Amino acid sequence: MQNNQAITLVTGGNRGMGLALVRALSQAGQHVIMGARDLEKGQSAIDELRQSHLSVDLVQLDVTDHASIVKAVQTIKNRFGQLNLLINNAGAVFDFGQQPATVAAEQLRASFEVNYFGLIDVTQQCLPLLEQAEHAKIINISSMMGSKTAALDPNSEVYGAVAVGYQSAKAAANMYTVQLAKELKRAQSSITVNAIDPGMVATEFGGATPELARSMGAQPLAVGIARTIELATDWESRVTATFSNTHGPVAW
Ligand SMILES: NC(=O)c1ccc[n+]([C@@H]2O[C@H](COP(=O)([O-])OP(=O)(O)OC[C@H]3O[C@@H](n4cnc5c(N)ncnc54)[C@H](OP(=O)(O)O)[C@@H]3O)[C@@H](O)[C@H]2O)c1
Repeated sequence: MQNNQAITLVTGGNRGMGLALVRALSQAGQHVIMGARDLEKGQSAIDELRQSHLSVDLVQLDVTDHASIVKAVQTIKNRFGQLNLLINNAGAVFDFGQQPATVAAEQLRASFEVNYFGLIDVTQQCLPLLEQAEHAKIINISSMMGSKTAALDPNSEVYGAVAVGYQSAKAAANMYTVQLAKELKRAQSSITVNAIDPGMVATEFGGATPELARSMGAQPLAVGIARTIELATDWESRVTATFSNTHGPVAW
């Protein structure tokens, strides 16, 4: 399959790595649908891309709102009838620096709503459309922060970081990645499911500014999306149930 035949959905596509993915994949020839929970933010992001004559669409999509997901998927179904690539990129952190002994239950629940239940709800609603495609992929934007191996490794860059709600939700989403990949493989489906660690990237994630994040060692957007772009544009690759970054496999 060629990239110019691919219909792609990126959740949380209005800024940060999501926007960079929408731009790069449409530049690669894919028709990319940007999911944005706030239509105004999505519209200004999409206007800029359309000025560069990129093939992009916009849908309202809040991953914590089931009705919004159902409506967005129905819109894609009516227009395209199938989906080749789902990138579950939408994510949020609510508990940076909160200690496990005292972190508030609401912060833990908020993390799981976006990073775990939201990802699963979007995936389940998109599966019938992905099944309509001859070639299809699901890419979950995870994080090294969700790796228990990294959390226990004093040499890891995330060893000292604490955001137990976010970390647990990403770790749980990693297990969903593995189990869905196995289920689809058993069913001899053509859909692959993989998780990506983008590394520490200069975005507004967690209320930062890209400048502040850069001063703390975060990588440019182009580096953060590199592994995802590689996987998202290689239609020969059948890898499934992997967790990787630009350096290779990441320990779960
Ligand atoms: N930046 C890093 O260092 C880093 C490292 C590892 C992993 N990640 C992961 O990479 C992904 C992208 O993060 P980023 O750095 O690009 O962060 P970002 O700039 O904060 O962008 C996050 C995106 O997710 C959207 N979003 C948040 N809650 C949502 C919801 N309920 N429904 C739909 N969209 C929602 C945001 O929409 P609004 O604009 O409306 O808020 C925004 O478009 C996330 O999954 C994050 O966990 C980031």
